[in-house]
Amino acid sequence: MERELRQAFLAQVNIPEDTGKIFAEFAHQFEELMMIYQCAIQEVTTKLDVLSHEMSVRRNRNPIETVKYRIKKPKSIAEKLHRNGLPITLEAVSTKLNDVAGVRVICSFIDDIYTVANMLTSQDDIRLLAVKDYIKNPKENGYRSYHMIIEIPVFFSDKKQYVKVEVQIRTIAMDFWASLEHQVKYKKDVPNPEEIQARLKKCADVIAATDNEMQNIAQYIDIL
Ligand code: GTP
Ligand code: MG
Repeated sequence: MERELRQAFLAQVNIPEDTGKIFAEFAHQFEELMMIYQCAIQEVTTKLDVLSHEMSVRRNRNPIETVKYRIKKPKSIAEKLHRNGLPITLEAVSTKLNDVAGVRVICSFIDDIYTVANMLTSQDDIRLLAVKDYIKNPKENGYRSYHMIIEIPVFFSDKKQYVKVEVQIRTIAMDFWASLEHQVKYKKDVPNPEEIQARLKKCADVIAATDNEMQNIAQYIDIL
C-alpha cells in the first residue's frame, strides 16, 4: 500500500525523494482513513444482507439480486484529486470525494431499485446527502442507474463517525451494459469510437425497453 501510494503521489505532485519520513507518516494516516471507509462498506453491506435475508423469508421474492463493493485505489484517489484541482491531502479525500467507498446493488426489476433505495434511506441512522436518478433522467450515452450518496455512522472504540458511501442501484441488464461501456471508455485505441458509442446507445435503449416490458409482465402475473 505504501509503495503504491508513494508512486501515485510522486507521479502527481512534485515531491522531492528525501521526504520519506513524511510519507511514512502520511501512508499510515491514509491506511487508517481507508480502514474507516472499509468499515462503512461493511455497515452498508450488512444492512443490505439483513434486508435481503428478511425479504427472502417474509416475502415471496427478494428485490436484491447481488451486492458488490469496492474501495477506490490510492492511484485513482490521487488522480481524481489532481483532475479536480484539489490538494492531495487526507482532508480533501474525506471532504471532497464522495466515492471512496462504493456499494453497488443489482436488482431484477426497475421497481426493485426504488424499493431497495427506500428501504435503505428510511433507516433512521442513514443520512441521505444526494440522489442522481439516471433511470428517470438517463445520461446522453444511454447510462441508467440510481445513485445515492449516503452517510453512515461507524462506531469505533472512542467515537462515532459519519462516513460517506456511494450507492449505485441498477438492474442486471443495466449493469451488463455499464460494464461494457466502462471497458470501452477506458480502453485505448478503440477503432471507430463514435460508431461504438452509437451502437452502445442503441443497446441501452433496447435494454431500457426490455427492462420495462419485463416489469410489465411481472406485474401482470402478479409476482412483484
Ligand atoms: P465521478 O466523478 O465519475 O465519480 O462522477 P460524479 O461525481 O459526477 O457522479 P455520478 O453519480 O455521475 O457518477 C458516479 C459513478 O457512476 C461513476 O464513478 C461511475 O462508476 C458511474 N457512472 C456514471 N456515469 C457513467 C457512465 O456513463 N458509464 C458507466 N459505465 N458508469 C458511469
Ligand atoms: Mg466515481
